[in-house]
Amino acid sequence: MKILVLYNTVDGNTQAVAEAIANALDADLVKIVRVKGVRAYGFFTKLKHRMEVVRKKKPDIFPLRKDPRDYDLVFIGTPVWYDSYNPVYNTLFDVIKIYDRKIALFSTGEEEDTKALDKLADYLVDSVLLGKFHCVEPIWCDTDEETQEILDKAVAWAKNIAQEAQQMKEKEELERRKTIYKY
Ligand SMILES: Cc1cc2nc3c(=O)[nH]c(=O)nc-3n(C[C@H](O)[C@H](O)[C@H](O)COP(=O)(O)O)c2cc1C
Repeated sequence: MKILVLYNTVDGNTQAVAEAIANALDADLVKIVRVKGVRAYGFFTKLKHRMEVVRKKKPDIFPLRKDPRDYDLVFIGTPVWYDSYNPVYNTLFDVIKIYDRKIALFSTGEEEDTKALDKLADYLVDSVLLGKFHCVEPIWCDTDEETQEILDKAVAWAKNIAQEAQQMKEKEELERRKTIYKY
């Protein structure tokens, strides 16, 4: 089964989760990169980001190195920005319509809140959403053990998702054969 982990990050928290999942599942890993770099600090910068989120702006992004539609299962990760997903997904889903795929969403944020993923899921109603995972900023934990614990949780979740996706794929293949060969 072909698995892609697609993510965006500014400070590296979402990247840490994305890398842990991709390593554990031997999946391809693709980062969505803005053409214009982003700082995560400064009053005016934050105001600009808030406007981007509220107005559903589509910041320019570089072309993806892989096409998510070529994969059976796609993990999509985002930092939480003002109770929503990162605006790069407005751009991406405007260009690439993902449908009929198996999808799982993950996010990192300051708080325990999955609103961002609920909003991101609105773009993916034509796919099968297998699950959502949110965690608090893994790379800024007080100890390495705490960081590892969060990443281990993410990996355990992702492995369950991959297993479920594999079972679904096998069932779909069986149904397809039944239709073709009529057995
Ligand atoms: C512009 C901006 C807005 C944010 N808004 C929220 C928020 O509404 N809720 C939250 O829990 N965290 C919020 N955060 C914190 C980030 O979601 C958190 O630090 C996340 O782990 C960053 O991911 P990254 O390191 O992959 O960029 C915000 C951070 C930034 C830069």
